[in-house]
Amino acid sequence: MRASALAVALALTALVACGDEPLPVEELMKPETCQQCHPNHFTEWSGSMHAYAADDPVFLALNKLGQEETNGELGGFCVQCHAPLALQLGLTTDGLNLADVPQWAKGVGCYTCHNVVEITGTHNNPLRLAMDQTMRGGLRDAVESPAHRTAYSPLVDAESQDSSAMCGTCHDIITPAGVHLERTFAEWQTTIFAQPDPRRHVSCASCHMVVSTDVIAEGPGLDVPLRPFGRREHTFAGIDVALTPWPETEAQLAAISRDLKGALLPRLCVLPADAGRIDYRLDNIGTGHMFPTGATADRRAWAEIIAYDAQDQIVFSSGVIPMNEPYTDPEHLGDPNLWALGTPARDADGQPTELFWRVATIDHPGTLLPPAVTTDPMDPDFYHAVERSFPVPGLLAQIQRVTARVLIRPVPYALVEDLMASGHLELDVRPQIPTHLVEGSVLEWTAGGDACVCPNGPPCP
Ligand code: HEC
Ligand code: HEC
Ligand code: HEC
Ligand code: HEC
Ligand code: HEC
Repeated sequence: MRASALAVALALTALVACGDEPLPVEELMKPETCQQCHPNHFTEWSGSMHAYAADDPVFLALNKLGQEETNGELGGFCVQCHAPLALQLGLTTDGLNLADVPQWAKGVGCYTCHNVVEITGTHNNPLRLAMDQTMRGGLRDAVESPAHRTAYSPLVDAESQDSSAMCGTCHDIITPAGVHLERTFAEWQTTIFAQPDPRRHVSCASCHMVVSTDVIAEGPGLDVPLRPFGRREHTFAGIDVALTPWPETEAQLAAISRDLKGALLPRLCVLPADAGRIDYRLDNIGTGHMFPTGATADRRAWAEIIAYDAQDQIVFSSGVIPMNEPYTDPEHLGDPNLWALGTPARDADGQPTELFWRVATIDHPGTLLPPAVTTDPMDPDFYHAVERSFPVPGLLAQIQRVTARVLIRPVPYALVEDLMASGHLELDVRPQIPTHLVEGSVLEWTAGGDACVCPNGPPCP
């Protein structure tokens, strides 16, 4: 059905003579075609996880393992989001042949977002593409493009709520076993950002695709005005990074640290209560969903607390990865005080698992940091900061200095080790897995001052 729809579209474009005709659909499906007039969009996107989604070695290994363990029943489940165009065109059915699929059809390409005409659900990619020569976006007055037709669509308008539903279709996963595994869209829907009032509402794209003062298209013969809102960034930076050689890795890392910077508002106190206690508070003020969100069964996010004495010797610590064992996941530290932000997922036997198809239960929201859900200070949900206490009984007189910060890592090392041990992953990608610092969470307390420190204090609210 899908393949024949494409054949019809291709036949139609072949029938009409050149001249003012836009490029054929098969050309418009290739991101390289767009590079000529939208070079900045292309460059940013080429380094994004959308471009990398079907090249990630961890993804390929997991899909292979999943197909084996389910006797192929997983089918197109993973590729429906990681290589949707390839699946739709019949270039793959289960992702096991991705090495032979042309690069332009892999990942989440330009055409997948800009050719959407309809959304028929809220999860597992129910996007319907028009398979035509029209690129849809947020402009109602696009100048004529020699390459494609243009049309306004609320589904690809960052100012419209509907664009969040477009992103949400893939950023919300229900597994074949019926487990609501990733819930970024569902989480966003509970926040103040999902308000129907257009003046108040903040879409996924408003936060994740920042505006810059560039023209939208450039090139010989094009007369394109500089628009008041410029152009939208297409890096789609999150937490994940390319683990193999890939374009624009520095730009991705820079965008990740930029976006993480304002995500959390911290407070750090050292108190005489309970014979000595360090309190670290985190307020998820900058995201439009839980922190972290999405692939939270895989994410490792945690607080690192270190207390020093007058000789700068460590007298207490939590969440510190030992230097001589860098490939340690926080849960393997044996740290009774560890503050991890996550959603433990378990299989049918109650054992922890990161393997999607085995997951029977997920503890959502678990210890994720909740977002702002109301602007009414009288509402009990208004205050959504979370605080954890770290006991330091009897140590207060010694403690001179305390540092606190939040670290986040896209995938656990243990998963990579398991996939290598089972022969599904050949490359040891552990050295490439970053541990990002959430810059805005960093605080330092020193003895002799106030009990609490925070970014704009003391005094701290
Ligand atoms: C030959 C040049 C050229 C090529 C190639 C090209 N475009 Fe465009 N595109 C333009 C021009 C010109 C505009 C209008 C810009 C404006 O009005 O500010 C435009 C506008 C757009 C818009 C905005 C539409 C709207 O109504 O909001 C999108 C989306 C878009 N292009 C996507 C693409 C994609 C995806 C590709 C590759 C398949 C592509 N373009 C290839 C020239 C081009
Ligand atoms: C994950 C979905 C997605 C992908 C993939 C994507 N875009 Fe976009 N794009 C958007 C959204 C959303 C907007 C914002 C439209 C608006 O509000 O005007 C946008 C805007 C645009 C615009 C209009 C000008 C602007 O910057 O606001 C152009 C041109 C464009 N994209 C080209 C591309 C090209 C070329 C690619 C691939 C190299 C691409 N896009 C990939 C979602 C996507
Ligand atoms: C067709 C499915 C699809 C759509 C539509 C889609 N995404 Fe994605 N997105 C993905 C996949 C798959 C990944 C993960 C790729 C990987 O890490 O291997 C991803 C990754 C991301 C990441 C990076 C996550 C990380 O942890 O690094 C961000 C940010 C993101 N998308 C934002 C958006 C926004 C904003 C929109 C809407 C404008 C959108 N996405 C629409 C499938 C989609
Ligand atoms: C109010 C701004 C805001 C809104 C609205 C928002 N986000 Fe985010 N998002 C953030 C910030 C800030 C981060 C943390 C920085 C980072 O991960 O790079 C983040 C992180 C992410 C990540 C990285 C995954 C992780 O581990 O946390 C994904 C994926 C994502 N957002 C997708 C979405 C989608 C999809 C929507 C809409 C349904 C959305 N976001 C709405 C601000 C926002
Ligand atoms: C409904 C769409 C969807 C489906 C189905 C899906 N993914 Fe993803 N995947 C995503 C999105 C979106 C992200 C980015 C998540 C984030 O950062 O919050 C992602 C991220 C990933 C990542 C990188 C980050 C991480 O968690 O390690 C891997 C690997 C991955 N997916 C593997 C798979 C496998 C294997 C399957 C099939 C069993 C699968 N995905 C099915 C949408 C999907």
